[in-house]
Amino acid sequence: MCGIFSYLGNQSNAGKLVVEGLKKLEYRGYDSFGFVEAVPATSSGQGNGKLKLTKKVGKISEFPLSTFYFPISNLALGHTRWATHGKVNLRNAHPHLSADGKVAVVHNGIVENHAELRKELQKKGVKFASDTDTEVIPNLIASYLTPRFTGGLREAVRRAAKKLKGRFAFVAAAEGAEKLVAARSGSPLIVGIEKFYPKSDDRLISKIDGSAFFIASDVPAFLKFTRDVVYLDDGEMVEIEPSPKNDHFHAHFFEIENGKTVKKRVISIDWKSGKAEKGDFAHFMLKEIFEQKETIERALNQDERQIEKVAELIRKSFGAFFIGCGTAGKVCATAEYLFAKIARRHVNVIFGSEFDTQEPFLTNKTLLIAVSQSGETADVLEAFKIAKKRGVRTVGVVNVEGSSVARHSDVVLPVNAGMEKAVASTKATTAQLAILTLLAYAVAGKLDEGKQMLAEAASQINDLLNPRYSEHLEKIARKIKNVESLYIIGKAADYPMALEAAIKLQEVSYIHAEGFAAGELKHGPLALITKGTPLIAFVPAEEYRADVLSNVAEVKARGGRIIGVSAENDELFDEWIRVPNVGNAQPIVNIIPIQLLAYHLAVLRKNNPDLPRNLAKSVTVK
Ligand code: F6R
Repeated sequence: MCGIFSYLGNQSNAGKLVVEGLKKLEYRGYDSFGFVEAVPATSSGQGNGKLKLTKKVGKISEFPLSTFYFPISNLALGHTRWATHGKVNLRNAHPHLSADGKVAVVHNGIVENHAELRKELQKKGVKFASDTDTEVIPNLIASYLTPRFTGGLREAVRRAAKKLKGRFAFVAAAEGAEKLVAARSGSPLIVGIEKFYPKSDDRLISKIDGSAFFIASDVPAFLKFTRDVVYLDDGEMVEIEPSPKNDHFHAHFFEIENGKTVKKRVISIDWKSGKAEKGDFAHFMLKEIFEQKETIERALNQDERQIEKVAELIRKSFGAFFIGCGTAGKVCATAEYLFAKIARRHVNVIFGSEFDTQEPFLTNKTLLIAVSQSGETADVLEAFKIAKKRGVRTVGVVNVEGSSVARHSDVVLPVNAGMEKAVASTKATTAQLAILTLLAYAVAGKLDEGKQMLAEAASQINDLLNPRYSEHLEKIARKIKNVESLYIIGKAADYPMALEAAIKLQEVSYIHAEGFAAGELKHGPLALITKGTPLIAFVPAEEYRADVLSNVAEVKARGGRIIGVSAENDELFDEWIRVPNVGNAQPIVNIIPIQLLAYHLAVLRKNNPDLPRNLAKSVTVK
C-alpha cells in the first residue's frame, strides 16, 4: 500500500537506483509513481542544489529506465502510489513538494487530520497543488524552516510528525541539505545500511556508520545492496547525513515525541533476492502457485518447541482469537472447523478490522493468534494495540521476517513461504493453512500424527501440480471466461475455502464470484442460478459427501453448470477437477486448482494477474 524508497550514499546515480528499487515495490501500489533527486549546485558535483521532480501516471514497470534522464545525484526519494486521497493523476502522484518547492516528501499512510492542517496552512498563505492528505506534510515542515529556525530539517520533521494524526511513514528531503529524515507511526519503514561498520560487535546502537543508506517500505527495494537493516518502530525517526569528514554517512535514531536518541538493533536478514524473480513463468502468480510443490513442506518445518508452546497457550487460554484480513481471514476461519474436529476445542475467529468489537471480553487470559503474510496489515496491527492494552498474549503466524507482526508477537510461527510478490496470495495461504492444521493436532496432543498427515498431503500436491493439470484448468477457464457471475460452495472447513476461492476469482478475473456454505444456497442464493450459471462445489470424499451432492443437485436441477472439485467424479458434474483425498488437509489441496483457475481466467480476460486493479499487496491503511 504505497511503496517508499529513498537513497543517500556514495553513489552518484541515486535517481536510477531509486527507480530500480521502486520497481521492486510496485506490488505495494501501481496507480502512479515519482521521485525527487537532489541535484548538486555545481557541475563538479558539489553541494545540494534544487530538488528535481519526476512523476508519471501508471505502472513503473511499464517505463524502461531509458524513459528518464538521471542527473548526477547522491540523494533521491521515490514513491509508487496506491491512491487513498485524491484521484489517480499526475498532480496527486508523490513526491509532494512544499509550496516553495524546497521540501519534498514521500508518504505511506493516511493523515487523518489533513483537512484541519490544510486549513491552518492555507490561512498562512500556503497554496496547495494536489488533493492529497500528504501535501500537508512538506508544507508543515517548510513552515518551520524559517531563516531564524536553528533546529534544521530533523527538528522540523519531528515537529511536523507530532502534529499528524493517523498512520504514516514518510521520508523528507530539503533543498540545500544533504540529508534524509524519516518518521514512522503505523506504516512500515526499514533502513538498509550498505557497508555497515560498527565500532564494536554490539549491534544495539544509536549511531550507525555506512557507505550508503536506504529507507524503504519493504526489504526487496534494496536487497541487491545489503542485508543489514534496522526496523523503525512506531514513534521513531531517523536522520541520515554525511560524516564530518564527508567520507561516509551516519544514521541517528530518535523518538518523535521528545527528540531523545534511541538505540536500535542492526539485523542481518537472510532473504534471497533471487527468489523475487519470475524465472520461466509468465507471471509471479503462476510461479507462486507452482512453488506450493515445496512451500507446504517448508511450512511444516517448524521448531516443535514453539508449536508445543503455542498449543499450550491455546489450551490454557480463556478465549483464543484467530484474526486475519482477506485471504488470511479465510485461513483463520478454517481454524474454527479444524480445531473443533481435530482438537475438540472452540476457538474464535474474527477479521482484524472487527477485533475491536471484542474488547470487552479481552483479559490477560485471552490469546490472539494473528495470521498475516506481510505482517504489516493495518487492521491486524490495530488489533495488536488493543490486545497489548488488555494484557492479551499474542502469537504471529507470519511470512515476512522482521515485519511488525513478527516483531510484536510473543511467539512467532514463521510461514516460510518465501517472498510472495503477486498481489493475490497463493503459496502463503496454503502454508498458513498447513500451520493452523498442525497447531490443531498439537493442541490435541497429536503433533506427530498431524505432521505425517500433512507431509503426505504435501507430497500429493507435489504430484498434482504439473503442466497438464494447469492445462486442464485452463480448458475449464476457456468455457466460463465470459460468464457474469459464478458461485462456490463448501461445507465445514471447505466453506471458508469457498469464500477464499471467491476472493481469488474476484481479485484477478474481475468476475462476480461469491462463496457460500453449501447448505445455505437453498435459503436464498438459489434464486441467482439460471441456465449455465457455474457452480464450483468442493465435494468431500467421505464425510458430508452426500449432503454437498444434494446441494449440488438442487443447482443442477435449475440449469446450473457444475464444476466439481473432488477426489471422485460424479454424474452431477459437468466438469471434474480432480484432487487427492487428503483427510484434514483437504482445504489446502482444494484451493490450489481454484488459484490456477483464477489465474487462467485473468490471463484469458487480458488482466494482469500479478497487479489486479485497485488493489495492493500490503494494506497498511485502516
Ligand atoms: C488476497 C490477499 C489479501 C490479503 C489481506 C491480508 O489474495 O492477498 O486479501 O490476504 O490483505 O494481508 P496479510 O496476509 O499480508 O495480512
